[in-house]
Amino acid sequence: MSDTKNESTPLENLDQWEEFLETATYPEPEHKKKDDYRNYDDPARDCVKEFYRLNHKYQTFDFVMKKHEEILGPNKVRKEMTVIQAIELLDTLVDDSDPDIELPQIQHLLQTSESIRTRGYEDWFVLTGLIHDLGKLLCLEGEPQWAVVGDTFPVGCQYSDKIVYPEFFEANPDADDSRYNTRLGVYKEGCGLRNVDMSWGHDEFMYRLVKDYLPDPALYMIRYHSFYAWHREGQYEYLLDDHDRAMLPWVKRFNPFDLYTKCPLAPVWSELKPYYEDLIAKYLPKTLMW
Ligand SMILES: [Fe+2]
Ligand SMILES: [Fe+2]
Repeated sequence: MSDTKNESTPLENLDQWEEFLETATYPEPEHKKKDDYRNYDDPARDCVKEFYRLNHKYQTFDFVMKKHEEILGPNKVRKEMTVIQAIELLDTLVDDSDPDIELPQIQHLLQTSESIRTRGYEDWFVLTGLIHDLGKLLCLEGEPQWAVVGDTFPVGCQYSDKIVYPEFFEANPDADDSRYNTRLGVYKEGCGLRNVDMSWGHDEFMYRLVKDYLPDPALYMIRYHSFYAWHREGQYEYLLDDHDRAMLPWVKRFNPFDLYTKCPLAPVWSELKPYYEDLIAKYLPKTLMW
């Protein structure tokens, strides 16, 4: 871990940073109304509902354990890549679970990070915006999209009815399994999200790749940005510990940048690349093992 990491760690100066955040501005939707984002009742794209039908049916506790072993375990053949290479590779992907954007993912990363940067936030927050979805590279390794993107939720305990399309959980075998379908399931009251297994996807994968290099608020943003049932709907309170509660405001702050900056305007990567090369080098190693 480099010394520069501590320079910008927000926890050393939390009061001042909190004060700044209270006066800071957040993106408002410019191209459509707020209510038109995350519209799952009448999604603009047909593939969204079908995506969640598959996601809710197949994301079982056993499936997640299998993915942890397969993708996070020692036998996985990893590719060594720079973050810049990963970003450019992701440019070939369109996310089927997202009702709001059909642009290549590189544009979503840049719209998020640039929106954070232009508001004067700390640079680790800008970097978080840039890399938060890089775990979507799993799609390019042949993983089905329902196992990579979309909203995430805890597995191994009762599904909240505040998760999008909760009716699709009826087809998930865990919903009928007494080990997993109770309020706590396999967990203990207040055990903390770090001890909870989330449905498998890009959030957890990316978190594991960068967990030794970024401040904790950044890691929460990366790991839980798709956990809308928690950060938007306030569900699963009984699984949280005090640290989760302290980190929740950061996850909430990240959300408008992830969501409301999605628009058809495309930032120009070639112009922005030198700035981001320096920023990545400040916090992350030259290559990561994807
Ligand atoms: Fe994401
Ligand atoms: Fe995103």
